[in-house]
Amino acid sequence: MLKSLKQLWGILTKLDKRKVIYVLILVVGMAFIESAGVISIMPFLAVLSNPAIVETVPILKILQEYSGAKNSQQVVIYLGSISFIIVVFSAFLKIITQYAVNRFASLQRHYFSSRLLKIYLQQNYEFFIQRNSASLIKNVLSEVDQLIWSMILPALSMLSYGLVLIAMIGILLLYNPIIALGTAGTLAFFYITIYVLVKKKLSKIGQEFTQANKERYQNCQEALAGIKDVIINNAKQGYIDQFETSSRVFARHIATRDTLGQVPLNIIETVGYGCLIGLAMLLVVLGKDVSEILPVLGLYGFAAYRMLPAAQNIYRAISQIKFSQQVLNILIPEFDLEKEKSSKDLINHAASLEFEQTIRLENISFAYPNYPDKPVLCDINLEIKKNTSIGIIGKSGSGKSTLMDIMLGLLTPQHGKIYIDNRELNESNIREWRNLVGYVPQFIYLANKSVAENIAFGVPKSEIDIEQVKYASKLAQIDEFIMQNLNNGYDEIIGEKGVMLSGGQRQRIGIARALYKKPEVLFLDEVTSSLDAETANLVFESIKNIGKTIILISHKHFEILYVDKKILLG
Ligand SMILES: Nc1ncnc2c1ncn2[C@@H]1O[C@H](COP(=O)(O)OP(=O)(O)OP(=O)(O)O)[C@@H](O)[C@H]1O
Ligand SMILES: [Mg+2]
Repeated sequence: MLKSLKQLWGILTKLDKRKVIYVLILVVGMAFIESAGVISIMPFLAVLSNPAIVETVPILKILQEYSGAKNSQQVVIYLGSISFIIVVFSAFLKIITQYAVNRFASLQRHYFSSRLLKIYLQQNYEFFIQRNSASLIKNVLSEVDQLIWSMILPALSMLSYGLVLIAMIGILLLYNPIIALGTAGTLAFFYITIYVLVKKKLSKIGQEFTQANKERYQNCQEALAGIKDVIINNAKQGYIDQFETSSRVFARHIATRDTLGQVPLNIIETVGYGCLIGLAMLLVVLGKDVSEILPVLGLYGFAAYRMLPAAQNIYRAISQIKFSQQVLNILIPEFDLEKEKSSKDLINHAASLEFEQTIRLENISFAYPNYPDKPVLCDINLEIKKNTSIGIIGKSGSGKSTLMDIMLGLLTPQHGKIYIDNRELNESNIREWRNLVGYVPQFIYLANKSVAENIAFGVPKSEIDIEQVKYASKLAQIDEFIMQNLNNGYDEIIGEKGVMLSGGQRQRIGIARALYKKPEVLFLDEVTSSLDAETANLVFESIKNIGKTIILISHKHFEILYVDKKILLG
């Protein structure tokens, strides 16, 4: 429990911590004023039932003298008014506090989500090849919610009610130690026993809940992203069933958690009510007078009435935190990535990079992080002169795309170095290098945006140079199609993943995207695999004519003829 709170504190930024403290102060203040409202009813009731008490209790005596009340009747009116004012004030403060807490929680969710997405986007490409995108999306959108609603808010409520409870016990101790300790002891015993009984269960269903949430996201993402394969392979029902299974576990466990959080209140209310009636009966049987019974009952009732919600809220908060512990186990390593990254980022704003002569690869060896013992590339040496072209050839799986990813700085080789004009390619100049290169991957990703936005990828709409978009499209042999076949030309939205386009059209959009950047070096990974020979030839002629450095992967014989030099892998 304490460990969880400490971990939780650890992932907050300085600003977050400050905000938590402000909200906490407000929540505690509110809880105290609320309690004061209830406490203020006590003297009012006491004087009401026994006016003579004014003479015996010093504080009431002082009040009478200070307010100039002539008799106990007037004292009752004063006490009633004070109590009412406090209750009104506490209602007012409650509205403000609720707004502050809601605002804090919602904005905190926004900060955490944005922060986490930023952390993810700052990671190297190697991070993403090892991670599943559905689980990253889940962390940003769902686990962060969980962190707010099931950890931070309960922690706040636990702390504030904890303080109220301590204060309540303190006041009651002054007033009547036996009743204070008796009520507090009974409540503590009761809640601790229940907590010990349900702790394991909460932890277990919490874990299952987290797992179910992960599966929910994964099923949804897989089914919708691979819809064509899902339909063809009659896999729809399978996905629906899997989703329903995890979604049901997810829902059921929330219900169990909430019930386990509420149950003690129902039990203790019943038991407490029974005790009060029993006590009243006992006092009657013992022949006590009603005026004697009422204050004693009132006191026990009051103590329980005030302590119970506090104890209940603390218990519920603790059970929620226990249930959601897994979220911390998931999110803490993710937020830790921020610390590792920020130290690297410091050196990420270094000097510019020029490419005037050569790209040189020296003794490059690489193995994927998940298969460190299976090297894909061993000791590769290569020199590429500016404005020449090189073809990387080799069997499928021989490491061609991997080599390209290394040259693009997406993957970092375990051994060897890359030099651009004798300057080593590293973290400090990789951004500059990416400004110089254009890359057409084997599988083109298209966003659910207009053709122009897909070609000028990542450029804000208002800053797109439409002439450059058209120029790049002409070189890629796609301009004619866009102008003649699409209703809105370059403004046509091409649908998620470009489902409105043929394979070859998508490839040509990919080529236009790379050319839009006016790159010094063009990386092409089997970019004409879906094009007919005639179109492919036209594309190559125009690319060749712009006279840039070209690094190309191909299986096609005619494409290899275009290049000045070849390297065979595998
Ligand atoms: N993310 C990854 N994790 C582990 N191994 C990988 C990963 N990606 C690729 N590999 C392995 O690396 C080897 C080289 O893959 P690569 O994609 O570079 O081949 P390729 O030469 O481009 O093949 P193709 O012509 O089929 O595109 C393959 O054996 C593949 O199994
Ligand atoms: Mg490949």
